[in-house]
Amino acid sequence: MPSSDVLLMRRPDDWHVHLRDGDMLRSVVGHTARQFARAIVMPNLSPPVTSVALAVAYRMRILAALDPDAGFEPLMTCYLTDGADPDEIERGFAAGVFTACKLYPAHATTNSEHGVTDIRNIHRVLERMQRIGMPLLLHGEVTDHGVDIFDREAVFIERVLLKVLADFPALKIVFEHVTTAEAVAFVEQTGPNVAATITPHHLRINRNAMFEGGIRPHFYCLPVAKREVHRLALRRAATSGSAKFFLGTDSAPHAVGKKEAACGCAGIFNAPFAMESYATTFDEEGALDRLEGFASEHGPNFYGLPLNTGRITLERASNVVPERVGTGSEAVTPFHAGEIMRWRFAEGA
Ligand code: NCD
Ligand code: ZN
Repeated sequence: MPSSDVLLMRRPDDWHVHLRDGDMLRSVVGHTARQFARAIVMPNLSPPVTSVALAVAYRMRILAALDPDAGFEPLMTCYLTDGADPDEIERGFAAGVFTACKLYPAHATTNSEHGVTDIRNIHRVLERMQRIGMPLLLHGEVTDHGVDIFDREAVFIERVLLKVLADFPALKIVFEHVTTAEAVAFVEQTGPNVAATITPHHLRINRNAMFEGGIRPHFYCLPVAKREVHRLALRRAATSGSAKFFLGTDSAPHAVGKKEAACGCAGIFNAPFAMESYATTFDEEGALDRLEGFASEHGPNFYGLPLNTGRITLERASNVVPERVGTGSEAVTPFHAGEIMRWRFAEGA
C-alpha cells in the first residue's frame, strides 16, 4: 500500500463522550475503547453523577463492561448543580476521581434538568476550580425560549461566557462541541486557558441534513447543526493545527425508537466510525498531517496529562457502515449509516 494510504499515529483520546449506563453502556462502550485510549465521560445519567462516590461507582461499571485487557481509561466528570459543593469537588479532583466539572445550563439538553439555573449560583465552585486548576467543561447554549435555537450558542458567549472569563480569567475552560463561527472566533481570541472540542458530525453536516427530503431524526443533536458558513469555520479550526481545538466526539447513543419518534431525542452516535469520520474530513481538507495533533496531542496537553504511547493505523480502504449497531432495545443508528467510507480504523500497533 502506498504510504499516503496508511496513516500511523499516536493513539487518540475522546475528550467528550456519552457512555450511558446499564445495557446501553455494555452495548456501546467497546466502540469507544477500540479507537480511543481515554475518554472524558459525560455525567448526564439519570440521576446525574454529582458526587465522588457516584463517579467511582460509574467508573467501575464502565470498566466492568469492558474486557479486562481493553486498556481503556475513563476520565470522570462531575455534573454541576446549583448546590454543588466546592469541597466535594476538590476532594474528587485531588483523589484523581474527577478530571473536570461539566456545566449544563438547566434544561439545555438530555438529562440536564438538574443543571445550573444561574451561573451566580456556582461562583464559589468556579473560584475553587480556578485555584486548583480544574477544567470547566461547558455546554455553551442559553436556554431562553425567546432565543432562536440556532442562535443559542452565540448568545451564550455574550450572556454567560464573557462574564465567567471576566470573573475567573485563569479558569481552564473547554467550550464543548462548538458549532458556530462565533465560538471559533471567541476561542481563538482568548488566552491558552480556553479551548474547544469539535465533533465529527459538525464537521460534516449543516442544518439542511435534518430536513433532506423529509425529517431526519438521526442528524438531530444539541447543539444543533448550523448553516454551511459555520461548518466551514469548524473545518478550518479543526484542521488549522491550533492547539486550542481538539477531538471530542459527543457520541450520544439513543435507541432507534427514541430517535424515530414524535419527540425524538437529541444525540448522534458516532463512536463506531469516529476516527474514520475525522480522517475523511482532514483528508478532504488536505490536512491529514494535522490529524494527530487534533486527535492525540492538543487534548492531553490542555488537560496536563501525558500523551499516549500506543499507536493506531488508519488505512484508505472501503468500509461499509451498517444501518444499525447493537441489537434489540440497544440497536442504534450510527453516524454515516449506509455509507461506504474511504478510511478504515485498523487497530493498534
Ligand atoms: C447528549 C445526550 O444525548 O446525552 N445529546 C446531544 O445531542 N449531544 C447531550 C449533550 O451533550 O447535549
Ligand atoms: Zn454531549
